[in-house]
Amino acid sequence: MARFDESIRPLILALVLLLLSAKLDAKVSAIIVFGDSSVDTGNNNAISTILKSNFEPYGRDFEGGRPTGRFSNGRIPADFISQSFGLKETVPAYLDPAYGISDFATGVCFASAGTGYDTSTSDVLSVIPLWKELEYYKEYQSRLRIYLGERKANETLSEALYLMSLGTNDFLENYYTTSGRRSQFTIEQYQFFLLKIAKDFVQKLYSLGARKISLGGLPPMGCLPLERAANIMGGNGCNKEYNNVAAQFNAKLKALEIQLNKELPSINVVFSDPFPILQQIIKKPSLYGFEVTSMACCATGSFEMGYMCNRFSPFTCSDASKYVFWDSFHPTEKTNLIISYHLLKRVLNQFR
Ligand SMILES: *[C@@H]1O[C@H](CO)[C@@H](O)[C@H](O)[C@H]1NC(C)=O
Repeated sequence: MARFDESIRPLILALVLLLLSAKLDAKVSAIIVFGDSSVDTGNNNAISTILKSNFEPYGRDFEGGRPTGRFSNGRIPADFISQSFGLKETVPAYLDPAYGISDFATGVCFASAGTGYDTSTSDVLSVIPLWKELEYYKEYQSRLRIYLGERKANETLSEALYLMSLGTNDFLENYYTTSGRRSQFTIEQYQFFLLKIAKDFVQKLYSLGARKISLGGLPPMGCLPLERAANIMGGNGCNKEYNNVAAQFNAKLKALEIQLNKELPSINVVFSDPFPILQQIIKKPSLYGFEVTSMACCATGSFEMGYMCNRFSPFTCSDASKYVFWDSFHPTEKTNLIISYHLLKRVLNQFR
């Protein structure tokens, strides 16, 4: 069957051309990934959580039609960004027993779907907290120094591109759905609470040798199909409050980018903001060849993700490339590719 791999081929070409046109001034030795389901390439397969996606129809447009634990029908931004730097086409998950340090030497993913900056967010779905992702990274450093030798490993670690992509779950799965943080913080205070964790995390990465860091922003999270389905009073439109919070938090991350670049010598932090491009796609889907924005491809398209999005639903769409969202919380591979292209333009500008 002609899968939409075909339809996204021109976009992949555009991505590669973008890199070539930048003449690869931005030398990147490896892609090292921290965050949530937006970049998890399969770590949750190895832990006890109900938040998984290593079953059909997840991955049906992935190489070999294989579910991998990525929350999409195909690849996710970490993969596209790796490919565009001439590295692996898919970034291996650190906890996947099929891979070892030789695979991780050019890219590794520590991300865990459902996690957040706030440790109480990772507790909600018992997934890997951010501090634990960092512990795995330290272990990786030791393994890499044994594998490559200390000098070469240090070089790889300092020339790697570090991707951080998380925060949505702190608001949608924690602040707005459980009572703990809401009884402690106003929404503004909670944003500053998360921002402090983000800043500490970047400083820790820096002290461990990281120099090129992409600090990911939040999507227009009020437009995720799940949030639309819940927005009954708003006629199932985008939840404006959630979108405003995402925009406010992104503005703070942007300020953090500027601050960190001033404070830490020879660091290169770039704020990677998926908000404007995703909002543009949702407002003008036909410009990008999409037909459906408000509902997801999987199952009824309103609320299913994880185990609810499974092969027993007769409603799952046949061509995901017409949909912005794959399940009620995550973009399709095609959307991921378009977002990656836009983020990469900014990364390249900054690193030149
Ligand atoms: C590698 O990096 C570590 C940590 O920064 C440092 O202690 C060590 O001296 C470095 N080794 C070499 C050979 O550059």
